[in-house]
Amino acid sequence: MNSMQLSNTPKIACIGAGNVGATAAQYCLELELGNVTLTDIVEGLPQGKALDMTEAGPIRGYSVACTGTNDYADIAGADLVIITAGLPRKPGMTRLDLLEKNGAIIAGICDSIKQYAPDAVVIMVTNPLDVMVYLARQKLGFAKNRVLGMAGCLDSARMRAFVAMELNVSMKNVDTMVLGSHGDAMVPLARYTTVSGIPITQLLSPERIEAINARTRDGGGEIVRLLKTGSAYYAPAAGATRMAQAILRNERQVLPCAALLEGEYGLHDVYMGVPCILGRQGVEAIIELELTDAEREALRRSADEVREGMDGLRQLGLL
Ligand code: APR
Repeated sequence: MNSMQLSNTPKIACIGAGNVGATAAQYCLELELGNVTLTDIVEGLPQGKALDMTEAGPIRGYSVACTGTNDYADIAGADLVIITAGLPRKPGMTRLDLLEKNGAIIAGICDSIKQYAPDAVVIMVTNPLDVMVYLARQKLGFAKNRVLGMAGCLDSARMRAFVAMELNVSMKNVDTMVLGSHGDAMVPLARYTTVSGIPITQLLSPERIEAINARTRDGGGEIVRLLKTGSAYYAPAAGATRMAQAILRNERQVLPCAALLEGEYGLHDVYMGVPCILGRQGVEAIIELELTDAEREALRRSADEVREGMDGLRQLGLL
C-alpha cells in the first residue's frame, strides 16, 4: 500500500499557502512528516501549489499526499496545524503595524480550527508572533501545551549561521539559544552559545559577539530590506518544520519556542520564547535557565514589548 493511503499517517494543516506556508508544506513533505493540507482564501492558489508539490514527489522521493483547499472543513482531524496566514511585514512596517490586520485574520481562523481540528497541536508563525499566539490560545481555548509559537527556532538558526560565518566553522557545530519576544527586544544568549561545546565567549571578542547579537535581532529586517517586496520565508518555514518534526515524531527535542508563561522566569500570562521540550503533546515542559540579572532584565523588557501588543489588541477589541 502506498503511504498516501495509510490512515495512520499524521495530518498536517498549513493555513496560509503563501511563501512561508507553502515552503513549510514542502519541507514537511520532504521529511514525510505527514499528509499535508494547504488552506488559503485565494481560490486556486493552494490547489495549484499542492498539485505542483505532489508532482515533485516522484523526483524528490516522497509519497505522502498534499492537497489544496479553500474550505476549512478539509482540515478535519488534523494532528498539527501550522498557521502562516496573514500579511508579511513590508519595508518600513513594524511588527506592531501588522497587529490589526493579522489579529482579525487569526481570530477567524481559530474559530475554524476549534470546529474542525479540536485535538490538534497548533504552531503559530504569523507576526507579531508572541501576540498572535496569545490571541490564538484565547480564541481556541486549548490546553496551553497545544498552542505554541515559532520564533526562537528561527532567531537561533540565524544566530547559529552568523556565528558559523564569523568563525568559519560548520553551522552544525554551533548551538545557541535566543529567548524572549520575536522583536527588537529579543534576547540572544551568548553565554549559552557554543561551538562543539566551547562557549563563544572563549572564541570571540565581546565586540564581535555584540555585533552578532545585533545582526540576530535585525535578522528579519535585514531580509526585508534586501527583498524589498516581502519578508523571509525559507528560514521561518524551516523553523516551523523543525517544531512539527519534534512534535509529530515525539522527539522531546529542546527548542526555543513561544510558550505561555505562568510564573516561569518570573513572568505571568504572556507568551514568549523560552527553551521547551517538544514532543507529541506539544510543549511538554519549559526549561528555566539560570540567568544573570542583566539577562533577566532583558527578558522582562521583552515581555513588556509583547504586552504592548496585547494592549493594542485589547484596544482593537480583538482580545
Ligand atoms: N485563511 C487562509 N489564508 C489566508 C487568510 C485566511 N483567513 N488570510 C490571508 N491568507 C493568506 C493569503 O492569501 C496569503 O496567501 O495568507 C497568505 C500569506 O502569504 P504571504 O503573503 O506570502 O506571506 P508570508 O511571507 O507567507 O508570511 C506569512 O508569516 O513569517 C510570518 O511575518 C510573516 O505574518 C507573516 C506570515
